[in-house]
Amino acid sequence: MNSLLKNKKVILGITGSIAAYKIYELIKLLKDAGAEIYPVMTKNASYFVTPLSIEIISGNRVLMNMFEEPLSHIELAKSCDIFTVVPATANLINKYASGIADDLLTTTLIAFRGPVIIAPAMNWRMYESPQVQKSIEYLNSLGVKFMGPERGLLACGEEGLGRLVSINKIFEAIISSLTEKDLKEEHVLITAGPTRQYLDPIRYITNKSSGKMGYALAKIAKRRGAKVTLISGPSNLQPPEVDSFIPIQTTQEMLEAVMKHINRASILLMAAAPLDFEPEITYATKIDKHSIKSIPLKLCPDILKKVSMLKERPFTVGFAAEAGLNVDRAKLKFQDKRLDMIVLNDIMQQDRGMESDANEVMLIYKKRNNFFEEQTSLLSKDEIASIILSKILELKLAK
Ligand SMILES: Cc1cc2nc3c(=O)[nH]c(=O)nc-3n(C[C@H](O)[C@H](O)[C@H](O)COP(=O)(O)O)c2cc1C
Repeated sequence: MNSLLKNKKVILGITGSIAAYKIYELIKLLKDAGAEIYPVMTKNASYFVTPLSIEIISGNRVLMNMFEEPLSHIELAKSCDIFTVVPATANLINKYASGIADDLLTTTLIAFRGPVIIAPAMNWRMYESPQVQKSIEYLNSLGVKFMGPERGLLACGEEGLGRLVSINKIFEAIISSLTEKDLKEEHVLITAGPTRQYLDPIRYITNKSSGKMGYALAKIAKRRGAKVTLISGPSNLQPPEVDSFIPIQTTQEMLEAVMKHINRASILLMAAAPLDFEPEITYATKIDKHSIKSIPLKLCPDILKKVSMLKERPFTVGFAAEAGLNVDRAKLKFQDKRLDMIVLNDIMQQDRGMESDANEVMLIYKKRNNFFEEQTSLLSKDEIASIILSKILELKLAK
């Protein structure tokens, strides 16, 4: 459980689509984030999911009948922070666009004044109909946010545009709608993950970096309104929704991508773990195992060093993964690379840092020529990312 949506009240509209069963996953994510969920179902939705199961999973009564609890539509509309309809039928979208209020869900929707997120799901013929398209266009113009649909195999067996967008994307959109956009003036350039240095076409050296810290920074910066460019080495993670995602493999490629995008950035977060060394020779074909006795190495380019030599630099944050919390070494790196902040973490602990979902870090920065050190507790990488970004904003404002 985290507290991202603590004290947030979410109206969850559910309509009569075959995709309704996916709502359980969203309810779980919302509950784990601390939200209070108010499920409102159409009568037709109850052919696809039962009010009883929604009630048990959401921990709240399902509202369906307008006349069972008079004025519930106004009470909900007044007291909730966000309204999301998942999945939304063609019927619901057209009714909402026309201002029809003939059941509890549609009546509450037109009484609601906060952010509305709608995730359509239907056969592509329905979705592409002029009626649905016109309704979406009109609702968009009113500020309603549509998530999806996606193209793919539909429940009816046809391929087309109409699949419910992934629940993770809907969840992210809900959180983003409720997050203050305090980074909206910033363009954040982030590096993440390991790099790879090839010995021959199928063999390479790399390191244990998963990309989790850099991806968390990208996700949280985006959520807080920043423009985000993410340069990533090979990672098994699903990339977060960013403005520009640049996959690279080698340290040299990472360097080139950083140099290409640095001029547009106001903040540079070097959360990647680029390799420090690479094979001196790269073979064009697979090496015969008997043909070599050792693999001579040479140093890779030092990206932060090259950045430090630029005349104009964004607010630059380095990351130091050290064996033990070696504060003196981190301070030397801070000076040597002319950083604005360094994030130090101890890679020798099993439950944090590289590959893990959690981390405990020390933020080291300078104010009026004095070093300051701030230690976090053991937190999720999302929470660490949030703390780092808030500190950057504070230091930039104080400059
Ligand atoms: C098996 C079945 C699956 C359906 N799936 C969808 C769907 O995915 N999207 C949609 O817009 N309508 C779908 N419909 C049609 C809606 O249920 C119908 O338009 C209904 O009036 C919607 O009511 P509501 O919007 O009040 O929930 C489906 C109907 C059936 C019988």
